[in-house]
Order: sequence, then structure tokens, then C-alpha cells
Amino acid sequence: MSITPQSEQRVAVLKGLGTYLPPRVVSNEELSGRLETSDEWIRTRTGIRQRHWADQGTATGDLAFEAGARALKAAGVEKVDAVVLATTTPDHPCPATAPAVAARLGQGTVPAFDVSAVCAGFVYATAAASSLIVAGLAERVLVIGAETYSTILNPEDRTTSVIFGDGAGAIVLEAGTAGEPGALLGFDLGSDGEYPDLISIPAGGSRQRSEGTAPDPSAYYFSMQGKQVFAHAVNRMGESSAALLERIGWPTESVDRLVGHQANVRILHSLADLLGVERERAVVNLDRVGNTSAASIPLALADAVNGGAVKPGDRVLMTAFGGGLAWGSTALVWPDVDVV
Ligand code: COA
Repeated sequence: MSITPQSEQRVAVLKGLGTYLPPRVVSNEELSGRLETSDEWIRTRTGIRQRHWADQGTATGDLAFEAGARALKAAGVEKVDAVVLATTTPDHPCPATAPAVAARLGQGTVPAFDVSAVCAGFVYATAAASSLIVAGLAERVLVIGAETYSTILNPEDRTTSVIFGDGAGAIVLEAGTAGEPGALLGFDLGSDGEYPDLISIPAGGSRQRSEGTAPDPSAYYFSMQGKQVFAHAVNRMGESSAALLERIGWPTESVDRLVGHQANVRILHSLADLLGVERERAVVNLDRVGNTSAASIPLALADAVNGGAVKPGDRVLMTAFGGGLAWGSTALVWPDVDVV
């Protein structure tokens, strides 16, 4: 599915970006102390040096609240018309996490809902929020990607424990026109439900019910077939990015920064190679935060802006891939906005 607005068309424009990382840093060395792994393996196979994990008692909604408050501050606004929250790790299976976060943020009775698209969640949530704006249902929407993967990782599984981190990022979108900096110029979204088992929490939903019928306690933890996921991730993000670039008329060489989902530095480099974007243009912050799933894109974006890698006027391509399988891409010219 794709959406590409015309130049004077009403679109969603990015007005501010906020992020939050829980303070506890977990190093590769700490994980090597209890799992059969090593700093060397993790660094060379993934690029990750450390990740942040929330302390016991801190939930996804708490991280989402902090990032959401910072995004509102960055945009200089107090009120929005809707809150859309992307997460794989909601506070509860029911209800959604977004309404409680919206209430804590002082947003009263605005519509608030969760989006479940795993690591592609932020792009999906941004597309949903943009659609509310384009349809005239909202003038301003707060989009949040927030995760506490530390709560779903199997502590004995070295293949997932070393990869994922906790964190949150949020943006404020406002109605504007496609010609403005910060305008979301288009979306390319897709899914392939032929591979639900490559990334999953098998039990706890209606398929394997939580009342003791799941045969294996590990079925309640997050699991991933890393090798297969790697290949799908590169190909799907590559195809999606190329399709979007063609539709919005950006030659590949005009892309200043590629903000890809931060899963593995080798995935980001393979993606850059496939697209024909120089590797140096691929933003990398996974070395410090790991794979934060739905929070990955806004955290990488904020890191790049704060580090001077993304400047106002830069052409920024964002692309993400995750369980489902699901993927999505969007693009904008970076606006002169605050990052908090
Ligand atoms: N420490 C040490 N060894 C490990 C390890 C760890 N943390 N994790 C896996 N291994 C071992 C495997 O058991 C395997 O051993 P074997 O050859 O004896 O069977 C070996 O390392 C190679 O495993 P493999 O899975 O083939 O490694 P890989 O090069 O594909 O790297 C990932 C594994 C997970 C890092 C990589 O596949 C990946 O990044 N996939 C995508 C991850 C992702 O974040 N996806 C999220 C959505 S996009």
C-alpha cells in the first residue's frame, strides 16, 4: 500500500521530537556473565555494545509518558487531538496502553489507541496518525513508539537477550502542506503473514491460552529465528524504500540520511548497499541502545539530530521491518524543530 500526497495537499508535518531511555545500562560484559556469549560475539555479529533496560516496576507506559511529554515540549504544544502508541510490550494484554498515557499527559478524552506492528510499529503508527490528519479528523497527533523488551526476553536465550533494549521516542504531527519542511511525503507499507513464527511470543494470546495450556513455559517469551529474519529485513526494507523513493521522486543519491530500523549494523550496511546509499549515510545508534523495536526510528533520529548528522534541509528516509512480517517506509525533509 502506498500514499503519496501532491504538493499543496494537506499532510502531516513533524513539529517536535522527544525521547526517553531508562537509566540502567546493561553492557555486553554483564550479559556475558550469565549467558554463553561474549562482548566480542555481540559486537562483531550485531554492532551492539550496550542497551538500556527498565528497572522492575517500570512499564512501557512510563517510558511512553516521558517521551510523549518531551515531544510535546519540543513542539511547544500542550494539547493534541489524538495519541497513537506503537508497542509490542503493552502494559497489559487489555486495555491498550495509549489511553492511560494520554490521560497522564493531560490530554483528557482524546482518541488514543495502540498499534501492534512489532519493529515496524513506529512507521505504521505514524501512517495512522497522518491519515487522521489528512482525513481532517485531527489537526495534531502525538505518535509514540515505546518498548520494554526486557520484560518479554527469555533470560536463558542468548540469541534474543543480547539484541533488544528498552526505550521510547515520540513525535508531534500537525496539519500542513506537502511543500513544508517536516512534511511526511509519502508512505509505503506492507506485510507478509506467511511467516508469523519468525518473530513471535507463541503463548498468552487466544491461540495458546494463558491458563496453563501452553506446553512449554518458554512459549510465553519472545522468540526469533534471527538468520531468516535478517534476510527478510534487508530485502523488505530495500524494496519498500526503493518504491517510496520512486513515488516521491527522490533519486537514491539525493538521500542525505537513511534512518533504518536499528536491528543489526550488518542489516543496515546490507540495506545501504542494496539501495545504493553510501554506508556512511546510514544512521547507527544501536551500538548504544540495541534493538528497541517500535522506539528504534525516533531514537535513531534524535541521536542523529543531536549529533549533527541530520540537519534542517536534509532529505531523510526512514524504513523499518519487524514481526508479522510487517514493514514500512516514510520520508521527509528535516525541519528546524527541537529535539528534547
Ligand atoms: N553469543 C554467542 N553465540 C551465539 C549467540 C550469542 N549471543 N547467538 C547465537 N549464537 C550462535 C548460534 O547458536 C550459532 O551457533 P552454531 O553455528 O553453533 O549453531 C552461531 O552463533 C551463528 O548463529 P546465527 O543465528 O547463524 O548467527 P547470525 O550471524 O545470523 O547472527 C543475529 C544472529 C540474531 C545477530 C542475526 O541473525 C540478526 O541480527 N538477525 C535479525 C535480528 C533482529 O533484530 N530482528 C528484529 C527485527 S528486524
